[in-house]
Amino acid sequence: MQKRLQILAIETSADDTGVAILEAVKTKVGTKFKVLANKIHTQIDIHTEYGGIFPMMAKREHDKNMVPTIIGALKEAKMFALKKYKGQDKKLNSKIIKILERENNLADLFIEFIYKIKKPDIDAIAVTVGPGLEPALWAGISTARALSTLWNIPIVPVNHMEGHMLSSLVQKKKTFTYDKKTLRFPVLSLLISGGHTEIVLVKEFGKYKIIGSTRDDAAGEAFDKVARMLALPYPGGPEISKLAEAERKRLAPLLSEEGVGGGDSKKIHPLALAGTPPPQGGEEIQFPRPMIYSKDFDFSFSGLKTAVLYYIRDNGPLTEEMKSKIAKEFEDAVVDVLVAKTLKAVEKYGAKCLILGGGVSGNVHLQRILKREVKKAGKDIAIHFPTRILSTDNALMIAIAGYFQYQKKKSFPKLKAMGNLSL
Ligand code: KG4
Ligand code: ZN
Repeated sequence: MQKRLQILAIETSADDTGVAILEAVKTKVGTKFKVLANKIHTQIDIHTEYGGIFPMMAKREHDKNMVPTIIGALKEAKMFALKKYKGQDKKLNSKIIKILERENNLADLFIEFIYKIKKPDIDAIAVTVGPGLEPALWAGISTARALSTLWNIPIVPVNHMEGHMLSSLVQKKKTFTYDKKTLRFPVLSLLISGGHTEIVLVKEFGKYKIIGSTRDDAAGEAFDKVARMLALPYPGGPEISKLAEAERKRLAPLLSEEGVGGGDSKKIHPLALAGTPPPQGGEEIQFPRPMIYSKDFDFSFSGLKTAVLYYIRDNGPLTEEMKSKIAKEFEDAVVDVLVAKTLKAVEKYGAKCLILGGGVSGNVHLQRILKREVKKAGKDIAIHFPTRILSTDNALMIAIAGYFQYQKKKSFPKLKAMGNLSL
């Protein structure tokens, strides 16, 4: 087995163009990883203007930003060098043009810039094939195919959600190790992003069972939609979180015992269950905690979103103060449900470890309440959160998942974008 492997990964499932380069060295006990590059080009500004992501627009932006992002990553990894240019190879040209024929101008950029770079010391290319927006996914897949043809190296298709799941393995440092001690199985993974809300039972990497998922909106989607109702910019999660935290600070002196997010679970409002007590002093806003008592591990956030909509309709126009209160109560409701269901799953499946991933896993209130409730329940389990930057879409997580896939050495099917790919 090859001892050292260098993987270049590409992520384009939504609105971020990501390219990362990861070195993996097998040791006697596990694998040592080193992050050589992690570049991300976000399209947030463009999508903010329109209040959401439009697939064809996202694709166009990926096509535009892909070559500069690849070059940026190669430079960061110190793998960028120009080769002696011997003129164009017509056969190769026509192959690359064919591969990139559906990508706006990407073939031209490729021939103009990537051709002139010396083949870097890369052994394989990992690329997200789904789930995600298909036109956007194709931008990454076509690029991976063009690079694979040019550099004559294999492609490893990666499931975006597996990437999110593994993102918490990376720690703040540039090097990290994965061995038997890193995770204790069975592991439960809570994946909460703009498109997904899933609790996954992980018996080992590659063996996944989705034990619960959302029946309608994803948690991140609910944050984004409520943010829009409050006239906050896209993406809404961080904006709501900011307002909610400010409101909690304001309320802190009013809360008993543990202060922000505190309270005794026996005394707190029944609806709040695992979260913060409702505001005191007659200023209550109450939103439902959908499906919190249901026997399964599924979620539903669309009723909560509608409750916010009706509240705004019946109580508008909103003052800044009301917006903060809504943000806090909404965030409490989402977190209460996520935490309650996760704890119930930990109990049922005897999980020894929790790993979180996806944009919403970077939410500070969720992290705080989950830690607190796990402790309160007397569970001796480790909780792994990704760093804030790696909670949202990035190519580094795709590189890690690609590495584990590559180790299995199975033959990979023909590459295609799979918008609804499941774990
Ligand atoms: O994982 P991600 O980058 O993309 C998908 O694969 O969907 O997640 C993006 C989602 C957005 O809906 C965004 O509003 C949400 O994650 N998000 C947050 C926070 N940061 C991002 N939601 C709540 N709190 C946050 N701090
Ligand atoms: Zn994602």
